[in-house]
Amino acid sequence: MALRTLLAASAVLAPVFATPPICPIGPLAPLSCHNTTAIKNTCCTEVQGQVLQVQFWDTQPATGPANHWTIHGLWPDYCDGTYTQYCDESRQYTNISCILEAAGKNDLLAYMRKYWKDQAGGDESFWEHEWGKHGTCYSTLNPSCYTKYHPQEEVVDFFEQVVRLFKLLPTYDFLAAANIYPSATKNYTNTEIMRALHRVRGVNATIECEQGQLYEVEYTFNVKGSVADGLFVPVEPLGEGTNGCPEVIQYLPKNISSTPVVNNTETCSSGLV
Ligand SMILES: *[C@@H]1O[C@H](CO)[C@@H](O)[C@H](O)[C@H]1NC(C)=O
Ligand SMILES: *[C@@H]1O[C@H](CO)[C@@H](O)[C@H](O)[C@H]1NC(C)=O
Ligand SMILES: *[C@@H]1O[C@H](CO)[C@@H](O)[C@H](O)[C@H]1NC(C)=O
Ligand SMILES: *[C@@H]1O[C@H](CO)[C@@H](O)[C@H](O)[C@H]1NC(C)=O
Ligand SMILES: *[C@@H]1O[C@H](CO)[C@@H](O)[C@H](O)[C@H]1NC(C)=O
Ligand SMILES: *[C@@H]1O[C@H](CO)[C@@H](O)[C@H](O)[C@H]1NC(C)=O
Repeated sequence: MALRTLLAASAVLAPVFATPPICPIGPLAPLSCHNTTAIKNTCCTEVQGQVLQVQFWDTQPATGPANHWTIHGLWPDYCDGTYTQYCDESRQYTNISCILEAAGKNDLLAYMRKYWKDQAGGDESFWEHEWGKHGTCYSTLNPSCYTKYHPQEEVVDFFEQVVRLFKLLPTYDFLAAANIYPSATKNYTNTEIMRALHRVRGVNATIECEQGQLYEVEYTFNVKGSVADGLFVPVEPLGEGTNGCPEVIQYLPKNISSTPVVNNTETCSSGLV
C-alpha cells in the first residue's frame, strides 16, 4: 500500500520538467543550414541542421504492422550530409524505457513498442543505440540548453519528437495514395515511388533498397528553434546518397510469420531509493 502511494506520487511529480530554451519560431527566426556566419546560439539553431526522419520497411524478419512502416530514428547531419556520432559517452543511457516510464510517458512507450521495432527483437537496445549514436549529437538538446535541467529530460524530448514526426509521415499511406501497395508479384519504378513521396511534401525523400527491395525512406528537414519543440521545415536532402535504389524496385509484403520475438530485458528500479 505504502509503496503504491509513493509510486503514484512520483508518477505525478515526475513530468514536471523544465522546458527547453524559448527560441524564436516566427518567419524571421533562424533556420538551420541557412546561417551565413557561425551559429552563435547552438541551443536555438541546430549545428547539424539537416535532420532526417528515417523509417524502415522490414519484410523478413517482419517488424510492426503489415500496413505500416516503422521507425528507424531521427538523425542529425551537417548541411553537407556528413555527420558526427556518439557525441557524449556520459549520456549513453541503457535505460530508455525506464527514463520514459519515470517521466510518465507510458503512451509514448506503448507507441514505440508497436512502431519502433528492432529486427532481432531487441527494441530497448535499438532505442539505446539510436539515442547514443544520434540523439546525443543534437546541439539544441544539450543539457546546458535547459533551464533548471532535470537529468535525462532531453532524452524524453528526443523520443517524443521522433514519434511526433513519424506520425506526420505515414509512408504506407503516402505510397498507397499513388496506388503503390506491397506486392510479391508487381514491381514499381523508381520514378513512381519518388514522385509519390515528393507529392506529399513538395521535396524529395531519400529511398534505400537492398537487392532491389525497398527497405528504408528518409525525410529531410531543417529546423527553426530546438529539435525538442521547433518548427520542422521539409527540405531537399543535401549530400546524402539521395537515391539508393535501382530503376525497378520491389516493395514486398511483410512476411508476418517471420516476426521476431521481442526481447526487452530492462527492469526499472523504482527510482525511490
Ligand atoms: C553556420 O554555422 C556553422 C556552425 O557554427 C558553421 O560551421 C558554418 O560554417 C556556418 N555557415 C556559414 C555559411 O557560415
Ligand atoms: C537511468 O540511468 C541513469 C544513468 O545510469 C540514471 O542516472 C537514471 O537515474 C536512470 N533513470 C531511471 C528512471 O532509472
Ligand atoms: C520484379 O523484380 C524482380 C527482381 O528484379 C524480378 O525477379 C521479377 O521477375 C520482377 N517481376 C516482374 C513482374 O517484372
Ligand atoms: C528529386 O528526385 C528526382 C528523382 O530522383 C530527381 O530527378 C530530381 O532532380 C530531384 N529534385 C531535386 C530538386 O533534387
Ligand atoms: C516467411 O517466413 C518464414 C519464416 O522465416 C519462412 O519459413 C517462409 O518461407 C516465409 N514465407 C514467404 C512467403 O517468404
Ligand atoms: C536479450 O537482449 C540482451 C541485451 O541486449 C542480450 O544480452 C540477450 O542475449 C538477449 N537474449 C536473447 C534470448 O536474445
